[in-house]
Amino acid sequence: MQDNPLVLVVDDETGSRESMAIAIEKAGFAVRTFDDARKALEFLEENDSARLVVCDLRMPGMDGVAFLKEVRERKYDLGLILVTAYGTIESAVEAMRVGADDYLTKPVDLYELRQRVMNLLEKQQLKEEVSTLRQMLDKRFGFESIVGRSAPMERLFEQMKLVAPTRSSVLIIGESGTGKELVANALHRASPRRNERFLAINCGAIPSDILESELFGHERGAFTGAVSRKIGKFELSHRGTLFLDEISELYPELQVKLLRVLEERQITRVGSSELIDVDFRLIAATNRDLEKEVAEQRFREDLYYRLKVVTLRIPPLRERPGDLQQLAEHFLGIFCQEHGKPVKRLSPEAVELLARYPWPGNVRELRNVIESSVIFHQGDEIGPADLPVEVRESTSLAAPGGAVQAVAGELRTMADIERQAILETLARTGGHRAKAADLLGIGLRTLQRKLKEYKDEGFLQDLD
Ligand SMILES: Nc1ncnc2c1ncn2[C@@H]1O[C@H](COP(=O)(O)OP(=O)(O)OP(=O)(O)O)[C@@H](O)[C@H]1O
Ligand SMILES: [Mg+2]
Repeated sequence: MQDNPLVLVVDDETGSRESMAIAIEKAGFAVRTFDDARKALEFLEENDSARLVVCDLRMPGMDGVAFLKEVRERKYDLGLILVTAYGTIESAVEAMRVGADDYLTKPVDLYELRQRVMNLLEKQQLKEEVSTLRQMLDKRFGFESIVGRSAPMERLFEQMKLVAPTRSSVLIIGESGTGKELVANALHRASPRRNERFLAINCGAIPSDILESELFGHERGAFTGAVSRKIGKFELSHRGTLFLDEISELYPELQVKLLRVLEERQITRVGSSELIDVDFRLIAATNRDLEKEVAEQRFREDLYYRLKVVTLRIPPLRERPGDLQQLAEHFLGIFCQEHGKPVKRLSPEAVELLARYPWPGNVRELRNVIESSVIFHQGDEIGPADLPVEVRESTSLAAPGGAVQAVAGELRTMADIERQAILETLARTGGHRAKAADLLGIGLRTLQRKLKEYKDEGFLQDLD
């Protein structure tokens, strides 16, 4: 409990007011007394130190009930104990109805008063702790935890706000490290299921039979090694959210079973025939092109259609350069604190370098780069030299040979790979085309033709 919480005692009768005040002080609390409810209200308006009020019901001027109403209306975070002369108020129910947390009848048993004050303060304290914890969870896992205000991210937030309160299954698509798990968590925290469990399981990391019993659970003796009953994730996430990561990796036989669970909302544990109702909300994530997986018959079409109804796409970092600086500064703040370093800045050159790099590993890669620069760097400004070589080199592409606007982060086609090789070589030779052509083993004219193509496609600015 916080040191010496302040308790107000409001009573027009001096004797009763003083004796209550002394009793409460003896229990180790700070006390202020008021003979008039209006004065107490004025005090509350100017101070937020009081935690609890013990208030007489019958007083000239403003009475206890009017006082309670005022306090509740102003939403002060206060515990209230109403003191009623015997017979002046019908019942405890009535006292509570007008907004009291507790009530005592006069003549007040001082021992009882102390107990009630302590109990109520403890309850208040718990309530505060719960709300602080909830705020921490929101900060860590809620919408607030997702940094980035670029247009594509704003669109994503809009969609998330619409989807979060529903119970629809959600499919999150995004490259590795774009924040799929973060988004899944935020959806849960913004849903009516927020106070229930959020369970995550990675479908790509567990062998098929183990995954089945992880999801469905099993009865004792269901198979060799099943020495006791196990409750699966479907059941454990009842009323909560189940996050199936890397859904593309789900085994075909489990794909069928998952579809059935989604349709019937019932499961049976392995080795049992009992049907158990399950009410979980499914959030699935993938960094693969599921449509292609379906076309190539690695993923069931019916399950895909069932999942894709609500699809959230997280854009890769290279498509939202506007978020880079904010994200970098966010991680800088986190890691300086975590590693006990004084707060650092990023130099403008470093920011520019970060903005040029294509971030194939997306936000996770940026996070790692910032963490390592925080660890290795002395001083208060992180400059180009503190960034890893791949990030630094991606600027050198901007050397005399021409400024590179964007290099595809994920090399998908031969043309992508070829372009990357040519631009990188050119950068290494400081823009010297004949040397670059030589190194690449292609003719100078070919190189020139390619560079012109890249310029036309927007991968290069300013040739020459
Ligand atoms: N917009 C963001 N704001 C703050 N942190 C982010 C953001 N996006 C990602 N991160 C952080 O980057 C890291 C990777 O995010 P996360 O694990 O959610 O990505 P993922 O898409 O699930 O990746 P993978 O496909 O590799 O599983 C985490 O540390 C996460 O907190
Ligand atoms: Mg993930």
